[in-house]
Amino acid sequence: MNSNDAVQQAIYDSLLTEKDAMDFYRTAALYVKNPDARRMFELLAKEEREHAEWFHRICNRIDLDEFLRLIDSGPSPDSSWLSRLDSIPDLENGELEVMKVAMRQEKDLEKELQRIADATEDPDVRQIYEANIASTHRHFEMISQEYNRLKELLSL
Ligand SMILES: [Fe+2]
Repeated sequence: MNSNDAVQQAIYDSLLTEKDAMDFYRTAALYVKNPDARRMFELLAKEEREHAEWFHRICNRIDLDEFLRLIDSGPSPDSSWLSRLDSIPDLENGELEVMKVAMRQEKDLEKELQRIADATEDPDVRQIYEANIASTHRHFEMISQEYNRLKELLSL
């Protein structure tokens, strides 16, 4: 595999990861009952879809039609993001648990994106990764703020 193939593989994998993150938040938003948590998961799902679109713009593996079919094809059976939702026994009332999982996932993703960005020489590709890292970091902060707020509220 030459380096361009390797870069394209990394971009395609990153696109799939963003889709997994999107499906994670979409699924969480479908199940949790708490309206504030639900709204936040819906927003996060929308932003993860945009992240997938950013990667698609620099991805030469799939064209727009294929991307649009893929992005709304539903959760992948081997998504590591989705399998973490399965371990939450009462998803309807599990908003705090979902947020804890999401914070870990976002943190891990940020590290992974940084690792790829550092290994990338192409400035255009690097820029997309850097933007994604910043947004992934904002997601972590948004979730942790909401987690703390909701935890306090629920303990009253
Ligand atoms: Fe993302």
